[in-house]
Amino acid sequence: MTIMHEKTFSVAPMVDWTDRHCRYFHRLLSRRAVLYTEMLAAAAVLKGDRARLLDFNAEEHPVVLQLGGSDPAEMAEAAAIGAEWGYDAININVGCPSDKVQKGRFGAVLLKEPETVAACAAAMRDAVRATGRNTPITVKCRVGVDDVDSDEHLERFIGQVAAQGVRTFVIHARKALLKGLSPKDNRTVPPLDHARVHRMKERFPQLEIIINGGLQSMAECREQLAKVDGVMLGRAAYQTPWLLASVDAGLFGLQPPVDDRIQALERFIPYVEARLAEGVPLNAMTKHILGLFHGQPGARAFRRILSEEAPRNPADIGVLRRALDAVREPAAAAAE
Ligand SMILES: Cc1cc2nc3c(=O)[nH]c(=O)nc-3n(C[C@H](O)[C@H](O)[C@H](O)COP(=O)(O)O)c2cc1C
Repeated sequence: MTIMHEKTFSVAPMVDWTDRHCRYFHRLLSRRAVLYTEMLAAAAVLKGDRARLLDFNAEEHPVVLQLGGSDPAEMAEAAAIGAEWGYDAININVGCPSDKVQKGRFGAVLLKEPETVAACAAAMRDAVRATGRNTPITVKCRVGVDDVDSDEHLERFIGQVAAQGVRTFVIHARKALLKGLSPKDNRTVPPLDHARVHRMKERFPQLEIIINGGLQSMAECREQLAKVDGVMLGRAAYQTPWLLASVDAGLFGLQPPVDDRIQALERFIPYVEARLAEGVPLNAMTKHILGLFHGQPGARAFRRILSEEAPRNPADIGVLRRALDAVREPAAAAAE
C-alpha cells in the first residue's frame, strides 16, 4: 500500500545561520515551514551546555533537531535528550562534507556506511521510545559521495536505513566530494541531480522523500512537489527570507501570516527587545534579517545600517528602528 504523505516545505539546517533567533524570524513569515536547527554534534549535546545548545522558542514548532555523529550509543543518548527537549523530529546528518566532520566520521562520509547509519537510527529509535515519546528519526543525505555515486548505492543506503524505521529522507541532490573541495564549493561545484531524487521516490513510494538543493522560487517548489513529498530550501530562504511569506498561501492555500515586510519587521522588534534585555547582542539577531528587503527601495540602507551599526551597538534597539525608517522612507534613503 502506498501511503500518501502530506506535502511539506522546510528551511534547511545551516550552521551559523538557522539558530533560534533566525528560526523565530522565519516563523513570523510562515506558519507551515518546518524549521531545522544547525547541526549539533551528538558529543556536544552530551557534554556541552544543553540549555544554550537546545533551547528554542515555543513559536518555532514544528522544529527539527539535526545531530551529527556515528556512534550509536552517543547518537541514541543525544536523540533521547532532544526528544525530551520537545523537538518534533531528530534528523541524522549524512551530508556535511567538512574535514572537521570527516575526522569524527560523520556527515557525508556515512553515505558509504549504510550499516553505521542504520545502527544509529535503530539505537536512536529505541532510546526515544524509552522516553515515552514518538519523535521520529529522519535522515538528511546527499545523492552520492566521491565515487560512491549511483542509484543502486543510494537505494541500498535508503533501504537499509528505512529497515530501522526511518520514514523520512531529505536528499540534497548534489554529491559531496570529500577531497579537494571546501564545504562551500561542495554546495556549488558538483552538478544538481534532481532526477535521482525523483527516482528514489518512485523506488520507495511508501517513504517520505524531501528534495533539497538549488531551489529558488515557489514555482520551482510546486514543480518538485508534483514528484516528491517535500521541498527544503537553504540559501534562498536565508538570503531572501521574504520568499517564506509566500509558502503558506502559495503551497498550502492558507492565509499568509503577514501582509508585508514592514509588518514582519515590526513583529520581530518585541522579540529582539526581550532578548536584548537578556543580554543577547543585537547583531546575533539582526544578521538574519539583512536580506528581508532584497530588491526593494531602501534595501541597501537597511542592510548597511544593520551590518555596520548593530555590531558596534550590541544593546541598542534604536539601530533596528533606524533601519526600519530607512525602508519606511525609501525616497529619503535613496537620496542618501
Ligand atoms: C551556511 C550553511 C551551513 C550549512 N550547514 C548545514 C548543516 O548544519 N547541516 C546540513 O545538513 N546541511 C547544512 N548545509 C547544507 C544545507 O542544509 C543545504 O543542504 C544546502 O545549502 C543545499 O540547499 P540550497 O541549495 O537550497 O541552499 C549548510 C549550508 C549552508 C549554506
